[in-house]
Amino acid sequence: MFQSVVSAPPDPILGLTDAFKADPRADKINLGVGVYQDEAGRTPVLPAVVEASRRVVERSDTKNYLPIPGDPAYGLAVQQLAWGEGHEVVESGRAATSHTPGGTGALRVVGDFLHQNLPSTTLWLTTPTWANHPAIFAAAGVPTKTFPYFDPQANALDLPAMLAAIKKMPAGDAILLHGCCHNPTGIDPTADQWKQIADAVYAAGVLPVLDFAYQGFGDGLSEDAAGLREFTRPSAELVACSSYSKNFGLYRERVGAATFVAGDAGRCAVVQSQVKRAIRANYSNPPAFGAALVTTILGDPKLRKQWEGELAEMRGRINGMRKLLVDKLAEHRAPGDFGFIAHQRGMFSFSGLTEPQVAKLKSEHAIYMVGSGRMNVAGVTPANVDRLCAAVAQVLGA
Ligand code: LMR
Repeated sequence: MFQSVVSAPPDPILGLTDAFKADPRADKINLGVGVYQDEAGRTPVLPAVVEASRRVVERSDTKNYLPIPGDPAYGLAVQQLAWGEGHEVVESGRAATSHTPGGTGALRVVGDFLHQNLPSTTLWLTTPTWANHPAIFAAAGVPTKTFPYFDPQANALDLPAMLAAIKKMPAGDAILLHGCCHNPTGIDPTADQWKQIADAVYAAGVLPVLDFAYQGFGDGLSEDAAGLREFTRPSAELVACSSYSKNFGLYRERVGAATFVAGDAGRCAVVQSQVKRAIRANYSNPPAFGAALVTTILGDPKLRKQWEGELAEMRGRINGMRKLLVDKLAEHRAPGDFGFIAHQRGMFSFSGLTEPQVAKLKSEHAIYMVGSGRMNVAGVTPANVDRLCAAVAQVLGA
């Protein structure tokens, strides 16, 4: 039977990590997968997480199954973090949160839900988008199409083209937007642009799904939720997919959430019954440990304050590296104006490098980034920035 199976290509993002690990060159630089690294190039366990782990282990008294949507205390913490304590959505009961294995798990649950309950729905994706988005929805059997998002000439949001495309989307379709820190471009709508986008989406009768994987990596926890809050209009339906891989550094614990917001609490209960059915047929119920860490941190004011400080430090380091990159690219006479890097938000910079230039950086300089030219700014350090910028200048023909 297995004779007929053909090899799959390596994953465009996680496959880079494998290639990087296998590279024997000592001065290699990894700007591929979206994982935070400190100045020394390490991805440490956040001290707030270390303390929460101690407490969770200490009070752990069972390994019994969790409910299908996970611990209700976690669900409440997810909603309060995303929308803010006391928000109408949190208080009204018209939102139901399920703990999923990471943000990817949340997206897959949404895909299964759409496929099983709204089978004629097409999901619209930004051009470009996270390389795994099309694969997740294809695996769930949800058809996808794309719409314009990014203007590479201006290095900015192409709002007119985006709004024109949304206007033409058929009612009953769904649109996947990045809640903040757009992956891969680092370009987010402003508050006014979010309003125009939400107006257009709701006028078209399209269901918004927000992939919210980087809350706190842009401008701050509350600031980064501006788009989500704009979409949360009275009685409006939407879905939010949260991930705590990045902002809590819990990558391998797989901690995420899918929150379905319905028009009222009654509809929400019906929708959630179908979400639970989708989860049960997929992974049955979620793993407990990572979510317990998040619930513990968010539920203790002192630990939460500490975590917010640690998140601010990660955000500050990345934004500092953005400025340093701009300065160093100029110092190394890289052709062009790279000022846009400082304005992009989140972990990534869409550098404008072409696929052949990215390939050359890898083969000649042991510098790894995603083929689209996406660079993980968190992989840049004061120790490697000169070598990186000199190599970029060289492949650009300086
Ligand atoms: C990324 O875009 O690099 C991250 O979201 C990690 C992943 O799973 O691709």
